[in-house]
Amino acid sequence: MSTVRLHDKTFTLYLTKQQIEEAVNTVAQRLNKDLKGKKPIFLVVLNGAFLFAADVIRQFEGDCEVCFVKLSSYSGTLTTTHVREIMGLDMEVKNRLVVVVEDIIDTGITMDNMQKKLIGLGAREVKIATLLFKPGAFRKKFKIDYIGIEIPNDFIVGYGLDYDGLGRNLPDIYKIIKESHAQ
Ligand code: IMP
Ligand code: MG
Repeated sequence: MSTVRLHDKTFTLYLTKQQIEEAVNTVAQRLNKDLKGKKPIFLVVLNGAFLFAADVIRQFEGDCEVCFVKLSSYSGTLTTTHVREIMGLDMEVKNRLVVVVEDIIDTGITMDNMQKKLIGLGAREVKIATLLFKPGAFRKKFKIDYIGIEIPNDFIVGYGLDYDGLGRNLPDIYKIIKESHAQ
């Protein structure tokens, strides 16, 4: 299946599940190497990061804790500068190493908010692990510690990422086909 239709839009195959798996494994190996013996808290940003988080955290070899927050910044295929917190943090992060696990960093607004919040709550160190990164859309300056794959500034779905609620279950990642509009 090389194209999928979700709502009113068509998407074409962009990253196969094998490519995703390789990127996930690389991030997992780096986390294992860097965080050995450090007992991190993996803070998973829902909804999009649920599959990446499951696949990467499952490979973590040391002691760790896992918690979740639910944020929303996208509306359809457009990002908004307003980040809504739908489910808050319920774990003590004071003096802890927190690794925020994200599906994708686009403008960086969501992660910038998250990072500032964690520092404000007294986290000792905040690291960021994202499966995907769109450098062309990034508007912030913070360092991203672990990046699976850098991608162009196109809207994508699959492997946790959605278009208006659909597409999260797709094992591969698909990119939107831009429709040309007759004038
Ligand atoms: P940011 O705040 O602009 O960096 O956006 C972060 C959030 O927007 C991500 O965690 C995703 O949930 C969502 N997002 C960004 N780009 C895409 C995309 O191409 N497809 C689906 N969701 C996206
Ligand atoms: Mg996300």
